Amino acid sequence: MTAEFKDRIYLITGASDGIGQRVAVALAEAGAHVIALGRDEERLQQTQERIEELGGRCLCIPFDLMKFDQYGKLFLALKDHVPHLDGLVHCAGSIDRCTPLQYVKAETFRKMLDIHLTAPNMLTQIMLPLLKRAPAASIIFTSCDMLDQDQTNWHAYGLAKRALGYAAAMWQMEQPTAPFRFNTLNPGRVRTELFKRAFGGTHPKEVPAVSSVVPAYLYLLSDKSIALRGQSVHARDIL
Ligand SMILES: NC(=O)c1ccc[n+]([C@@H]2O[C@H](COP(=O)([O-])OP(=O)(O)OC[C@H]3O[C@@H](n4cnc5c(N)ncnc54)[C@H](OP(=O)(O)O)[C@@H]3O)[C@@H](O)[C@H]2O)c1
Repeated sequence: MTAEFKDRIYLITGASDGIGQRVAVALAEAGAHVIALGRDEERLQQTQERIEELGGRCLCIPFDLMKFDQYGKLFLALKDHVPHLDGLVHCAGSIDRCTPLQYVKAETFRKMLDIHLTAPNMLTQIMLPLLKRAPAASIIFTSCDMLDQDQTNWHAYGLAKRALGYAAAMWQMEQPTAPFRFNTLNPGRVRTELFKRAFGGTHPKEVPAVSSVVPAYLYLLSDKSIALRGQSVHARDIL
């Protein structure tokens, strides 16, 4: 447990697996209260069990981030449970396969934009009243290498991730004097289900474990990074 995170409250999307799950567990281990979002109830349960084994507290909420008409209900349910949010970590994401733009279907394209760009922005918007009530909330958008590298076959996934850098900057510019801050974090490649689906041919040993990027998330949530506002950062530059 660290004094800094003790009793802080964080909302984490994608907390049923991969990076989001590991960040949720690490925050709970550091003494924070965690609100874990994901669709798969069994895997959310695993997140909760891991956290409770460590003596932490976790509220699991099965929630499909593609259901935008439910965001208001989610906010109302949360505002009765928590006084404020010290942070919001956007880790939800998916991609079935990489496809050249000339072949990608409209439905797939729109789904990628929605889960990677519309959802984190709209969730931030709806949670803003709770984030404003914290002394200095930190909001993290999870990006990827396409943030600043042109790569083929990532269609709307890559476009959405690149736009997140601008989103963090735009949110901050629109809230210049607010104590809360918005940043985009590129974790680099790590061994998760999403990675395995996107890079089927890569041997797992060639890719770092998820735990390697968790300290970068904790740094961005901590007061040590208080000067970072509206920035895009790479985990390797923090670690
Ligand atoms: N792994 C990498 O190498 C890598 C590199 C760069 C960036 N990233 C980014 O890092 C983030 C986390 O990815 P990951 O690798 O940890 O993937 P992951 O292990 O596949 O986890 C993805 C998480 O997103 C949740 N999710 C997906 N669709 C959702 C929806 N509609 N509503 C609610 N939750 C949803 C999943 O939960 P449910 O299935 O329970 O809904 C799961 O918890 C993603 O934004 C990804 O783009 C990953």
